[in-house]
Amino acid sequence: MLIKRFGVSLEEDILTSLDELVKKNKFPNRSQAIRNLIKGSLVSEKVDKNKIVAGAIIIVYDHHKRELNNKLMHVQHDYHDLILSSQHVHLAHDLCLETIAVKGKAQSLLTLSDRIIGTKGIKHGKLVLTDIE
Ligand code: NI
Repeated sequence: MLIKRFGVSLEEDILTSLDELVKKNKFPNRSQAIRNLIKGSLVSEKVDKNKIVAGAIIIVYDHHKRELNNKLMHVQHDYHDLILSSQHVHLAHDLCLETIAVKGKAQSLLTLSDRIIGTKGIKHGKLVLTDIE
């Protein structure tokens, strides 16, 4: 894609904040930081408008918890049309890490994510959404 340059005028304190963001996130330059911020804003707007987005639900759980695997399987079958793939990694003796790639209407993905992450026995979970364009 064609890269275009443009000038940006910012107050000094905002520019300082931008540079701190570049440093903190180890962005190679300001352009990458601005690109990421704009994309984040576009994704939020798409979520608000319930547009199609994609992403991943990442969960960590103990597979010994009773019925947890079964419950997770049921939820994923209920929402099979939103799930692209899932990957299960055995992190430690008791600990499983699952990455579920998803694509669909934003509100449906939020509902699916709430159901999965809200399942009793899930230690930690997070939904990451991104733009498909
Ligand atoms: Ni496992």
